[in-house]
Amino acid sequence: MNIAVIGAGYVGLVSGTCFAEIGAKVTCIDTDTGKIQMLKAGEIPIFEPRLELMVARNVAEGRLKFESTFGDALSKADVIFIAVGTPTDGSTGGINTSYVENAARSLAPFLENYTVIVNKSTVPVGTADQVSKIIFVANDNANFDVASNPEFLREGSAIDDFMKPDRIIVGVDNSRPEEILKQIYQPLTDQGVPLITMDSKSAELTKYASNAFLATKVAFINEMAALCDASGANVKSVAKGMGLDKRIGPRFLSPGPGVGGSCFPKDTRALVNIAQDNNAEARIVTSVIEANRRQLERMVKKIRLASGGNFQDKNIGIMGLTFKPNTDDMRESPAIYIIGELEQAGAQIKAHDPEGMAQAKILLPNSISYCDAMYEVCDQADILVLMTEWDTYKNLDFELIQKLMRGQTVVDLRNIYERNYIERGGFQYYGIGC
Ligand SMILES: NC(=O)c1ccc[n+]([C@@H]2O[C@H](COP(=O)([O-])OP(=O)(O)OC[C@H]3O[C@@H](n4cnc5c(N)ncnc54)[C@H](O)[C@@H]3O)[C@@H](O)[C@H]2O)c1
Repeated sequence: MNIAVIGAGYVGLVSGTCFAEIGAKVTCIDTDTGKIQMLKAGEIPIFEPRLELMVARNVAEGRLKFESTFGDALSKADVIFIAVGTPTDGSTGGINTSYVENAARSLAPFLENYTVIVNKSTVPVGTADQVSKIIFVANDNANFDVASNPEFLREGSAIDDFMKPDRIIVGVDNSRPEEILKQIYQPLTDQGVPLITMDSKSAELTKYASNAFLATKVAFINEMAALCDASGANVKSVAKGMGLDKRIGPRFLSPGPGVGGSCFPKDTRALVNIAQDNNAEARIVTSVIEANRRQLERMVKKIRLASGGNFQDKNIGIMGLTFKPNTDDMRESPAIYIIGELEQAGAQIKAHDPEGMAQAKILLPNSISYCDAMYEVCDQADILVLMTEWDTYKNLDFELIQKLMRGQTVVDLRNIYERNYIERGGFQYYGIGC
């Protein structure tokens, strides 16, 4: 099977590499020439655990290559996956599908034999039809079908998520692409992974519905944590008690500073927009977006309380900047809003992140000092804020931290530590709902 993947970002690069790993011949095409140059030189433009080794192995074994131009690889491909970005459209709040549309327009002239074009990007309901029309207009000789195959991988565990997904969703409007996609995924379905087929519109909506549901679960437990803060209950106990109910389940019941990243915020906004376009209601998802915004504000309030009511001339050390551990992705990370507010109110910020500092420098205020060593953020700090639950922050040396800090306050926005443990070390502890 010859596969071309358009877009070599978090999804395209991981999917392309994993398809090569399960035996296909794959070309990843990206118009970002810098990215392709790095990949050709054996460097990985993103941080994703285990990806570097897997790329190197598949390149060495001749199953994986990279191109920055559209050409031969598309003419030879049996299947072309589109995995380009679908960011929020700033003017409408909906999804900017122009990258998908451009990819469709660019690939169309190269189609020779029957080809399945697959939207792997997260796209609004009806995009498969839209892509079909674009390709047909650009090349009326093309023999093709368009399918939807939304991706559910999570940054930080992307390879395992791709190779052992809970399910594979294939959206098709006739049986020919269905057979071909089933063949591609056979190495995974042979291991017991369920592959579910449905029409393309349902597949497109399944992705948004899944992400919006998960964001709802997080927003819900965040509200429960605020209620715990106000009432004296402990959210860790509440979440445990809820999660043991099999109808609820324990995952996504950890309170935090609010959801971030390149998917949940944009996909919830998109779902509301899709509902509006279809004259339908999405009141729950609208509330989730609002609840997430309120959670960010609550975090700033919590840190203000911890700092005695104002930030003027306060030194704040921040551990963790990315929206979750094991990624360098800073897109819509809660750290952006929270640090922006602290800095504007007069705080001096020192920050560390194991992988996210290069991207953070682009998105955060210039005045922030970045520390290569994590304990440097504690130097003369009044408050230490734990923003992301990287493993490296889970066993901190609080004796050393006490010597380094000017104040004695720890704000733990991921509930990594137990209150008693931190208080025994002589600190004041602020968690979320516990
Ligand atoms: N990141 C995730 O965790 C994740 C998970 C599931 C689904 N998704 C969805 O997958 C899609 C891609 O997300 P991502 O995080 O990989 O994005 P990304 O920004 O990391 O990568 C997109 C890539 O596409 C390239 N590109 C854009 N237009 C192109 C074109 N016309 N031709 C060739 N290359 C082009 C860009 O240069 C970029 O490298 C989005 O729809 C996203 O919602 C993302």
